[in-house]
Amino acid sequence: MARSALVHYLFTFLLSLSFISNSYASSPTGTATFLFGGCTQQRFAPGSAYESNLDSLLTSLLNSATYSSYNNFTVESSSPQDVIYGLYQCRGDLSMPDCATCVARAVTRAGELCSKTCGGAVQLEGCYVKYDNDSFLGVEDKTVVMKKCGPSDGDEAGPMGQRDAVLANLASEGGLYRVGGSGEVQGSAQCIGDLSAGECQDCLSEAIGRLKSECGMAVYGDMFLAKCYARYSTGRAGQHVYPQPHEGKSTDEGSKTFAIIVGLLAGVALLIIFVAFIRKVFEPNGK
Ligand SMILES: *[C@@H]1O[C@H](CO)[C@@H](O)[C@H](O)[C@H]1NC(C)=O
Ligand SMILES: *[C@@H]1O[C@H](CO)[C@@H](O)[C@H](O)[C@H]1NC(C)=O
Repeated sequence: MARSALVHYLFTFLLSLSFISNSYASSPTGTATFLFGGCTQQRFAPGSAYESNLDSLLTSLLNSATYSSYNNFTVESSSPQDVIYGLYQCRGDLSMPDCATCVARAVTRAGELCSKTCGGAVQLEGCYVKYDNDSFLGVEDKTVVMKKCGPSDGDEAGPMGQRDAVLANLASEGGLYRVGGSGEVQGSAQCIGDLSAGECQDCLSEAIGRLKSECGMAVYGDMFLAKCYARYSTGRAGQHVYPQPHEGKSTDEGSKTFAIIVGLLAGVALLIIFVAFIRKVFEPNGK
């Protein structure tokens, strides 16, 4: 009787462990990596109408991310100060399950970062989420929100020519999500889905122009404006100061290592439980 309960317990334990390692192993490369976030100064009172409107807005975002890579929502209210607006945008290459997972993580992160503030925004590697009581939907906004340039390559004959060619292609490609590569240089750009094609082009021209002029000879660069971004990375971005956004591979390996360590610890725990069990069963005067 005790034995079957133990077997059942071990089985459940193993099942949950394999679930944990699977969810680590199958998480798409780096999509959950945090890039930046911001919150408004204004706060809402706990238990207020605003709080419940925010909850229903966030629920709508989470539901929608299971079937669409972009959406916007407005939660109307009888009192104008309780109206809330929100949107999310997944990276153009994410599948629907990955988009939903990413948006769920971004919403959780925004909740931690922007606890009780009226507005909040979080950009992860794979998706963006923003909500506020001030409408920003459909408004082109080219404010720089995050800029990061890698160390300078310092080599005129290096990949900078390729970098410029990749950026020029991104600028002329068309579409809300754009990727390109040449030699050792990879680039990508994306607009948030509430911009028209013309606004997107205008926003990306600004982001790409700034990336070229402000990141100079940097081995990688990220230029996030409020409604669009452009990024590039050269082979020389290798291992260095800002590993996360550019080394999906090592992040992935980190997750694998983590899963292996969890597995090993579980193995040791099982062994201890097993030995204790055997001793209890076979020791004649075991207490
Ligand atoms: C947003 O909420 C804050 C705090 O309640 C308020 O001061 C501000 O006027 C609101 N903004 C809009 C656009 O309603
Ligand atoms: C917001 O969503 C509605 C309904 O899905 C859509 O008709 C509208 O065009 C969207 N607005 C913006 C600014 O994206």
